[in-house]
Amino acid sequence: MHVDVIVIGAGAAGLMCAATAGSRGRSVLVIDHSPKLAEKIRISGGGRCNFTNRDLRPDCFLSQNPHFCRSALSRYTPRDFIALVERHRIRYHEKTLGQLFCDDSSQQIIDLLKAECDAGGVRWQRPSAVSGVSREGDLFRVDTDQGARFAASLVIATGGLTVPKIGATPFGYRVAEQFGLKVVAPKPALVPLALDPDWLARFGELSGASFDSVAWCDGPEFREQTLLTHRGLSGPAILQASSYWQQAGGREALHIDLLPEVADAESWLQTARAGRQALATLLADHLPKRFAQQWVDFEGAGRWNVALAELPRAALADIAAKLKGWPLHPSGTLGYNKAEVTLGGVDTRDLDQKTMAARRVPGLFFVGEVVDVTGWLGGYNFQWAWSSGWSAGQAA
Ligand code: FDA
Repeated sequence: MHVDVIVIGAGAAGLMCAATAGSRGRSVLVIDHSPKLAEKIRISGGGRCNFTNRDLRPDCFLSQNPHFCRSALSRYTPRDFIALVERHRIRYHEKTLGQLFCDDSSQQIIDLLKAECDAGGVRWQRPSAVSGVSREGDLFRVDTDQGARFAASLVIATGGLTVPKIGATPFGYRVAEQFGLKVVAPKPALVPLALDPDWLARFGELSGASFDSVAWCDGPEFREQTLLTHRGLSGPAILQASSYWQQAGGREALHIDLLPEVADAESWLQTARAGRQALATLLADHLPKRFAQQWVDFEGAGRWNVALAELPRAALADIAAKLKGWPLHPSGTLGYNKAEVTLGGVDTRDLDQKTMAARRVPGLFFVGEVVDVTGWLGGYNFQWAWSSGWSAGQAA
């Protein structure tokens, strides 16, 4: 079979690319090995798909080449995707921090993409395994369990490595390497962090407790909830900071401000010193009570379990510093099974920022999460899938 464009991967980016190329009159074949269409969209956003973010900025993305994402994100914007959602009469709402979710179900976004593909006459081959990709003259040859397929343009949209049980594979990275493109080592990102046994002996039993916080690691600060788990830490603040922790090689300390409401913790403690309160009691106004007590025991090693008035002034400065930037050294992450995205991927220095085409391999494109562009939590990763998929769909 010969077509103009073959897209491998029927996820968010692949479907957007196929629909866009189809709408330009190109003949498009989409191949995916998974029996279910766009399963990651279905499970996203707790079943309601956080499909974009109103407050999108290029600095909400991590990459070895931070400017690369600008072009695609400005050519196909959140407003463009919102207009598409509205055209399909999908009701949605803003949850927090610009994050837009479907009112009803993420299946509506899959149906939207399927309808757009059908309108463009896109053909499907799924589930179908791809055994290899090669070049034959000006065409790409894709060998599948249903025979060889040929096209002048080949779009790789096979995503990252998260949640392998629903079909994630390193296929896209292998194709990139086969054609001489570099791959930035992939790592799990937006991922819960593991802490060591000493830490877990104190805090593990508080699993499920959460509190308002600011977390950061070698990058921007994230004011959101931190969640204690039986393996360590999670919650949106930690997931966001985890991507920067991973980018820094997992060696830097991660910091948590436990008192985001208190600008000057030392003065706050000095003022509270006049009363007879213990530190843990004072902290329990801002933090879960049992966590406050464990924190005082752990960080103070027994020395802080007295009335504030009995603590020397120098100790208050130390306590204030730890409250406003509690340093933690995670032992690792909970890996690809629990991660939301993959940091790293096809090196953007080998791609054209306007079209997502490989600079030195005419007709070969990479879109979506397989590329070394990783968004923050909050709809940014789907917007990258829409923008990069649309950009390639205009050129393939
Ligand atoms: P995606 O992973 O969607 O699709 C890749 C496709 O390629 C799959 O259909 C797969 O079967 C196929 N494939 C892989 N290997 C293949 C091979 N060898 N042969 C054939 N086919 C192959 N983001 C966001 O912005 N808002 C959100 O609410 C969420 N929520 C969320 C929840 C959870 C639990 C996860 C794991 C992730 C999210 N994300 C998210 C991230 C978001 O889902 C992700 O960034 C996009 O789905 C990436 O889109 P892609 O099309 O690049 O890959």
